[in-house]
Amino acid sequence: MEDWTRREFVGVTAATLAAGLAEGADSPAPTTMRCTLTINGQTHDVECEPRVTLLDLLRDRLHMMGTKKGCDHGQCGACTVLVDGVRVNSCLSLAVAQDGSSVTTIEGLAGAGGLHPLQAAFIERDGFQCGFCTSGQICSGVAMLKEWQRGMPSAVTAAALANGRPELPQLSDAEIRERMAGNICRCGAYPNIIAALRDVSEQGTEGQRS
Ligand code: FES
Ligand code: FES
Repeated sequence: MEDWTRREFVGVTAATLAAGLAEGADSPAPTTMRCTLTINGQTHDVECEPRVTLLDLLRDRLHMMGTKKGCDHGQCGACTVLVDGVRVNSCLSLAVAQDGSSVTTIEGLAGAGGLHPLQAAFIERDGFQCGFCTSGQICSGVAMLKEWQRGMPSAVTAAALANGRPELPQLSDAEIRERMAGNICRCGAYPNIIAALRDVSEQGTEGQRS
């Protein structure tokens, strides 16, 4: 391999790709798999191809449009949902891999008592402009606050500990920014998103639901 010229390498790669495509033309249509997910408390038995992402299952098959598709590559966080309470980029997760899991989307956060405290705080603090990122921000924020409650450190916490502050500091703006770094807001509503998250963490109401 080390002795290959660039021309030889490109030739072999092209031949391999062509052989793969020819083989694919004769292969049978993709098979489907059955899986059972609990989504916002409701059981769904679904049959889908193994390549279908959780995001596409939610939006295209179950018509739950609250979860957004931004980049479809794990870069923006718009598709964040909770799987067994943990935040997940649903565009990077195959639906069949979540067989037996409990999924919570933005549609499932509010309860009989009204909005989830973080949803209410986003409204109170104007934590959005166009709203495209908002469902992902809120789902991510709900899980982030629980991670904080459990004492899970972040890169910022590690720096604080190295500076001789052995206890988990207050959930500072720097902590919130670091922990929410996977959720992009193209409208730049970050100051208000941070304010909403800080409000809920100070009220201690983040664990009320979901
Ligand atoms: Fe999933 Fe952007 S759509 S991270
Ligand atoms: Fe528009 Fe965040 S509110 S992208």
